[in-house]
Amino acid sequence: MSASSPSQPRKLFIKTYGCQMNVYDSERMAEALGSEGYVTTDRPDDADMILLNTCHIREKAAEKVYSELGRLRVLKDANPDLKIGIAGCVAQAEGEEIMRRAPVVDLVVGPQSYHRLPAMDRAVRGGAKALDTDFPADDKFDTLKARPKARRAPAAFLTVQEGCDKFCAFCVVPYTRGAEVSRPAAKVLTEARDLVAAGVAELTLLGQNVNAYHGHPGGLAGLVRDLAAIDGLQRIRYTTSHPNDMDAALISAHGDCDKLMPYLHLPVQSGSDRILKAMNRKHTADHYLRLVERIKASRPDLMLSSDFIVGFPGETEADFEATLDLIREVAFGQAYSFKYSTRPGTPAAEKPQLPEEVMADRLARLQALLTQQQRAVQQSMVGRTVGVLFEKPGRIAGQMIGKSDYLHAVYADAPADVIGQVRPVRITTSGPNSLGGVLAG
Ligand code: 5AD
Ligand code: SF4
Repeated sequence: MSASSPSQPRKLFIKTYGCQMNVYDSERMAEALGSEGYVTTDRPDDADMILLNTCHIREKAAEKVYSELGRLRVLKDANPDLKIGIAGCVAQAEGEEIMRRAPVVDLVVGPQSYHRLPAMDRAVRGGAKALDTDFPADDKFDTLKARPKARRAPAAFLTVQEGCDKFCAFCVVPYTRGAEVSRPAAKVLTEARDLVAAGVAELTLLGQNVNAYHGHPGGLAGLVRDLAAIDGLQRIRYTTSHPNDMDAALISAHGDCDKLMPYLHLPVQSGSDRILKAMNRKHTADHYLRLVERIKASRPDLMLSSDFIVGFPGETEADFEATLDLIREVAFGQAYSFKYSTRPGTPAAEKPQLPEEVMADRLARLQALLTQQQRAVQQSMVGRTVGVLFEKPGRIAGQMIGKSDYLHAVYADAPADVIGQVRPVRITTSGPNSLGGVLAG
């Protein structure tokens, strides 16, 4: 076990669950604890501090945390100096209960409080327990130090907006992440320039409702255009969006901003107007279809991705068929689909639930259709030449792996110096989850 002396850095192991914002938050938490002398490790048995950055979106995600805590108890028995912390949305929603139920936990920190981790770390090192699930008035991004200048991977996340005011009837996000808050554009631009100076070529702007961004007078489109002016930044993406916040300026940016990639994750959840209403989505299936038409008119080769929930309370076979119809009409290149999961405290949790086997059957049918569409879209890439940002070596010697403009994973034989560059690749093969190709310039 590693001892914690000033001459020897303390080791931090972070396990990240859930969405891309948690990936970003984990990086920032590691940076915050870096100022306390922590370096990251990928071995939990070698760590002085283990943080679980958790997800509360579905029941299974939250359960995983408790089973992981059971496993961590063994490590703590072997190393009583080990400190264990829970961060993220389970911390926010159930922090006090976790402290009660799981004595192994020393520290609980909500998603808006992690700039306070250094002080919390000092408290737990002194033998205390620390819990902070406030929505503090101070901005965590102001308190966090500028990001370290170390060389970074070519693709990075950048949080620009947090929280959600939409209150979809099934969703805990408005409760765990709080109200919508946008970071001022000037601060986002500074962080973006620093990331580009550290080698980043592609930025994915993150927000629970990123297209509701209002930290720039021109909204998200204005921010995208300012970012596009940064030399060295080659690609911009954003996720995740609500259909009702796709404004005309953002739709035209997809048409004329070359750095904005032709890929859009636009969750629809259901194709039934009755269910969309019960979900409090505030749009109809037709509204979504017309919106997709407008976006595709602006950027014809745009690839669409979405989220679907099957088995929302009250969903009939006819409602489910309407979702399949919408999927057939749009043709998604990629999608995430889930069985409805009851979340305590949300409006839908009060309603009678559908039988598990009905949900399982619908999910299987929905996923079969989505997989078929995803394969067809991938197959249609064969023979085309697409831009690929190379990110790392593949498992086979001489092979490099990157992401296409459409976010497909692409393998190609290439020299190592392509890493960090966007290069044209002619796609030659389509596998289950990736494409293969040859450098075309
Ligand atoms: N049950 C199932 N899926 C959910 N999602 C959010 N809340 C729930 C829930 N209670 C899904 C939605 C959302 C994605 C991030 O997770 O599809 O878009
Ligand atoms: Fe949740 Fe997204 Fe609906 Fe907000 S818009 S409540 S984050 S599903």
